[in-house]
Amino acid sequence: MPLPKAELHLHIEGTLEPELAFALAARNGVRLPFEDTEELRRAYLFEDLQSFLHLYYALMAVLRTEDDFAELTDGYLARAAAQGVRHAEIFFDPQAHTARGVPLATVVEGIARALDTSEERHGISTRLIMCFLRDQSAASAMETLQAAKPHLHRITAVGLDSAEAGHPPSKFREVYEAAGALGLRKVAHAGEEGPAEYVREALDILGVERIDHGLRCVEDHELVERLARERVPLTLCPLSNVRLKVIDVLEEHPLARMMDAGLLCTVNSDDPAYFGGYVGDTFHAVREALGLTDERLRELARNSFVAAFLEDDEPRRAR
Ligand code: ADE
Ligand code: ZN
Repeated sequence: MPLPKAELHLHIEGTLEPELAFALAARNGVRLPFEDTEELRRAYLFEDLQSFLHLYYALMAVLRTEDDFAELTDGYLARAAAQGVRHAEIFFDPQAHTARGVPLATVVEGIARALDTSEERHGISTRLIMCFLRDQSAASAMETLQAAKPHLHRITAVGLDSAEAGHPPSKFREVYEAAGALGLRKVAHAGEEGPAEYVREALDILGVERIDHGLRCVEDHELVERLARERVPLTLCPLSNVRLKVIDVLEEHPLARMMDAGLLCTVNSDDPAYFGGYVGDTFHAVREALGLTDERLRELARNSFVAAFLEDDEPRRAR
């Protein structure tokens, strides 16, 4: 029986397996620049975050209808359930779809259709987190937030993702203020490729409750002490960090040291179709590579529920 756990850092578009990509391409008459699933899989050798994002956005061309988004999401939930996931907080990237002419309603209603049957079909409770693409303008993020108003009953929180370097959290101050005023909770990717200072900005300027990745906080001792003291959850993604060359090898991942420093760490899969494993595979990999004890793995699983946006509807860290 896999350890029951919550997944808190998962991009639904990053669960698009090559087989589904080709099936949807055929259904929707989209031509992919790859002959078959094997050739596509061979392209999954990334130099950095940007080289991954290039393929990640290109493959989204196959996602066109509500059915496509529902099938993508239900497929993820089935695979996650098999790995012990009992609760999933799922990111989606609306701007990556609306820019291709897919209406926001198609995206949200397709994903939501799968989420609505998730408890019954897969035993997984869910939340939906709408991410802004940080390499697009703040005005585009604000337009996206306004466009999402008819769908807010489906959305728990806002997030911030895509190419990090040169796009600090402070760029999105007004957008996050507006999201907070609409009753949305807040998270942001920070300290993946960007500096520790971006983690501070996400906390102090955006008022986020969790940091997605946050890995580079280890370069700033005072920041680590603060994150530990304030019990700010970090949604770490060790397999992603290796595949995107944020670290060289999994054996060098600072996860164990971060837990020793008192940080509230969780382990997640990020974009599992691209990075070689779902969250259960990730637990297994860190256990092997870092020699984590069963107690440490149970702590990670416990942390995932502590850090989740469950029952407690009050933001943990008021601005
Ligand atoms: N979008 C999908 N995966 C991402 C990641 N690891 N970092 C930033 N943006 C992303
Ligand atoms: Zn991510």
